[in-house]
Amino acid sequence: MFRNHLLPLCLVGGLFTAGSSFAQVVTIPVETQHNALVLQTDANKNLKMVYFGARLSNTAEYARIQKMYNQKDDSGILNSAYTPSGSANLSEPAITVTHANGDKSLSLAYVSHEVTKVADDISLLTVTLKDPVYDFEVKLFYKTYFKEDVTEQWSVIKHGERGEVILNKFASANLNLKGDGFWLKQYHGNWAEEMRPEEARLTHGIKTIDSKLGTRANLYEPSMFAISVDKPATEDEGKVLLGALEWSGNFKIDFELDVADNLRLIAGINNAAAEYHLKPNEEFATPAFVYTYSDQGKGDASRKLQRWARKYKIVDGEGSRLTLLNNWESTYFDFNETKLAELLKDTKKLGVDLFLLDDGWFANKYPRNDDHAGLGDWQENKQKLPDGVSWLVKEAQNNGVKFGIWIEPEMVNPKSELYEKHPDWVIKQPNRPEKYFRNQLVLDLTNPKVQDFVFGVVDNLFTKNPDLAYIKWDCNAVIYNAYSAYLKKDQSHLYTDYVRGLYKVLERVRAKYPKVPLMLCSGGGGRVDYGALKYFTEFWPSDNTDPLERIFIQWEYSYFYPAITSSNHVTDWGKQPLKFRTDVAMMGKLGFDIVVSKLSEQDLDYVHGALKNYDNLKEAIWHGDQYRLQSPWDNDAASIMYVDNAKAKAVMFNYLVNNRYGTGTHVPIRLKGLDPQKKYQVKEINLYPGAKSPIENDLVLTGDFLMNVGVNPRVDKNRTSVVLELDEAR
Ligand code: GLA
Repeated sequence: MFRNHLLPLCLVGGLFTAGSSFAQVVTIPVETQHNALVLQTDANKNLKMVYFGARLSNTAEYARIQKMYNQKDDSGILNSAYTPSGSANLSEPAITVTHANGDKSLSLAYVSHEVTKVADDISLLTVTLKDPVYDFEVKLFYKTYFKEDVTEQWSVIKHGERGEVILNKFASANLNLKGDGFWLKQYHGNWAEEMRPEEARLTHGIKTIDSKLGTRANLYEPSMFAISVDKPATEDEGKVLLGALEWSGNFKIDFELDVADNLRLIAGINNAAAEYHLKPNEEFATPAFVYTYSDQGKGDASRKLQRWARKYKIVDGEGSRLTLLNNWESTYFDFNETKLAELLKDTKKLGVDLFLLDDGWFANKYPRNDDHAGLGDWQENKQKLPDGVSWLVKEAQNNGVKFGIWIEPEMVNPKSELYEKHPDWVIKQPNRPEKYFRNQLVLDLTNPKVQDFVFGVVDNLFTKNPDLAYIKWDCNAVIYNAYSAYLKKDQSHLYTDYVRGLYKVLERVRAKYPKVPLMLCSGGGGRVDYGALKYFTEFWPSDNTDPLERIFIQWEYSYFYPAITSSNHVTDWGKQPLKFRTDVAMMGKLGFDIVVSKLSEQDLDYVHGALKNYDNLKEAIWHGDQYRLQSPWDNDAASIMYVDNAKAKAVMFNYLVNNRYGTGTHVPIRLKGLDPQKKYQVKEINLYPGAKSPIENDLVLTGDFLMNVGVNPRVDKNRTSVVLELDEAR
C-alpha cells in the first residue's frame, strides 16, 4: 500500500477503527534536532498534520497524539496536510483545480511516502497523494535541515487527464498548529519605510498577508512573519514559528483560526489573476515555504534561520564580503570620468575594498541623466564615460581598489532605444494607456528572448570587463496592466512565469559567475526574499539611510536574514555624527555613500579606525551568532551583540534612539551567548579621535558576570553610540 521509508523519519503504524472497517494508520514524523511535525492518515487515507512542536523522546508516541483529540469534524476540515477543494473539505483550500472535463472537485488520498538522505544534515520526505477518481497527483516535499531546525516545504502537481487542468490555487504548504491562542507579527511599509512591525492576536476567520505587485512585490508587505503560540513570544521566551515564502513575486499567506481553534496556515504563490493551465504530465512545482520553530523565543528562532541561510541558501554565506564606497547619494546622475577618477582615489583614501558606480552611466540616444530615460540601453554613455567601463575598472585597479556597477536589467524606460526596437518585450496592455512606476515599465521575462537579453546585460559586462568585481541588481517598478505579448492565451501565467524567467536568468548568471558578489536591490528592500537571495550575496534593506531609522529597519530584517546579507551604508542622511552613522552601519555589511573629500582629518582617522575594528570583528558579525539585547522599540537605547563561533570574540553595539529627558543607559545591559566560564576583556572601540571612554581600562569580567549582571555602555546624549569589543582574556 505504501512504500516504506528510510532514515531518519520513521513510520509508526497502528490500527485505526473507522466505523466497522479497519484501516492502517500511517504516521510520519518529520523531525529536526528539537522539533517535530507529524503527519498521519485517517481511516479514509486523508493526510492530516496532527502535531507541530517540540520533538518527543519516544517516537512511538507520535502515533497516539491524534487519539487525544475528540473533535467533531463533519466537513473533514480539520488538520488537512494539504486541503483540497470542492469535495469533502469545506474550508479554505491549499489547492483548487478545474479538471479537464470542467469538474471542480478534488480529493487527495495518501498513496505512499519515502525519505531520502540528501546530506548528513539534510533529509527529504516526499509524500504522494492522489485523487481516487481522477488521474491527478500531488507530491508534498518536506526538506529538513536537522541541526538548524529549519524546514522547506513545497508541492509538485501533475495529472494525466485528457486535456489541460486549470490550477486555480496551488499553495506550497498547509500547516496546522495547535495552541491556546496565536499571535501574528507581520510587516508593512513603503519606499524608505521598510519592515514596520505589527503584532496582534489572531481572531477567528482568515487573516491574509499578500502581494499583487508582481515585481518589487514586497514594497508594501513582505512574506516574512512570526507566529507565537500560547502567548506572544519574547526575545528569549515562548514558542514561535518564523516563516517566509521563497518567492520574488506575488504571494499569499492565510492564517485561519478554525472552528476547533487550530491555526491553519496556507502559504504560496498568490492565485489572484494567476490560474495556471497544466498540460497532461507537465509538472508544476510551487516555491518553497521556509520555516523554523523554537520554544525559546524569537531570538533563538532567528539565529536558526540565520545559520541555515549562511550555510545553505545565500551565495557564499560562509565566505567574505567587500567593503565599498557607493556614489549614489554623493553624485546621483551627475558625474563624468574626471569626477569618477576622483571618487576612485577617494575609495582608496577611505580605505574600503571597492567602488560601486550607481545609476546613470549608460544610454546615448536617450541619456540616463535622470530617471525618465535610458533604462534598457546598457551601453556606456559616451559623454560621461568616453573610455567606457573598462577604463574605470583599470583606473580602479591603478588605485588599488575594485570596481562594481549598478544595473536594472528587467526594466525599460519608454524613452529608450530598447522600447523603440522591441515594444513586444514590454509588459503592457495593448488597448490601455501605459501606466508607469518611476517612469518605467517591466520587461517580459516570460519570453526566452528577453531572458537572453537580461542575461546578456550581465554577461556582456563581465565578458568585456573580467575584473569587474560586484553588481548591484535593482528593480524599481511594479507591474501595471499585466499583459504579455509572448504568453498569448495564457495571460494568467504571467506573474508566475515572470519569476520563473527571472530565476532562469539568475541560474545562468550563477552557472557562469558562481561567486561574484551581487547585491539584491529593489528601490530599497522591495524584493528581499530567499527565492532571490539564493543567487545573491547581500541585499539593500532600504533607501532610507538615516541611521536612526536604520536601527529599526536593520533590527527587524535581522529576525529573518543574517547580518552578512544586510548592506548598510554610511550616508549623509540624518543629523547624527559620522561615528553614530558608522556604528549603525557596522551592524551588518559595512559600506559608505558619502562625499569623502568633505571629511575632516579627524573624520578620516575615525573611519580608518572603524574599518580596522570592523576587519577584526567581521568574523563575529558575518558568521557568528547575533543576540538582540535591548529593543529600540521599547527602550531609550538599542543594544545588539554578535559572538563568534568560538565564543572568544564578541561585539556589542549600543545606540541612543530616544533623545528626550536626558535619557541614556542608567543600568547595566545583560549580554548573551558568551561562555560563562571564560573571562573577557571589555573595551570601548570606535571612539572618535580625542574622545575619552568612561568605561574603565583593563576591564576583565567573566561571561557569567556579563550575562547575569551585564555592563553599562554609558550611552547618553553626549555618547549616542557606543561599541564595546569583548576578547577572551588569556
Ligand atoms: C533605487 C535604489 C537606490 C539607487 C537608485 C538609482 O532607488 O534603491 O539605491 O540605486 O535606485 O536610481
